[in-house]
Amino acid sequence: MGSIGTALHAAHRCVRPLLPAVLLLLAACTADTGREISFSTAIQPILDEKCVGCHFGGRAPFDMTRGDAHQDLMKGRYIVPGKAEASPLYVKVKGGHAAVAPLTSQQLKDLKMWIDQGAKRN
Ligand code: HEC
Repeated sequence: MGSIGTALHAAHRCVRPLLPAVLLLLAACTADTGREISFSTAIQPILDEKCVGCHFGGRAPFDMTRGDAHQDLMKGRYIVPGKAEASPLYVKVKGGHAAVAPLTSQQLKDLKMWIDQGAKRN
């Protein structure tokens, strides 16, 4: 009887120091890392709002199609799938593309994650 109590006590002492680490891990898993960014619901609206106004009809070096710009971006090599920091589009937008309304930090984060996740047409 006493031995069960002792075993429980020992187990408790063993698990307790680990709790903060476990909680931290859980928090990290449920945060942004597990979120897949969708082109159609997260990225295209940014392009429609902040880019298509110029990037259409020859006012800028390349056109983006409102509502479906994925192919436009991919054929122009502005995006290196899996590597946001190596993608001219991300670097330009992050660095402050002249005359463009700045993206919110959430929009920038979504753009980066979408490219890092493979720039899929999802
Ligand atoms: C106010 C008009 C305007 C807006 C809005 C705009 N652009 Fe541009 N963009 C230009 C012009 C003009 C150029 C060419 C000169 C330059 O490179 O800055 C350009 C160049 C670029 C280039 C480089 C093209 C190349 O061949 O080197 C990329 C990438 C780009 N824009 C992406 C975007 C994205 C993404 C957005 C939206 C977040 C955006 N632009 C919004 C006018 C605009």
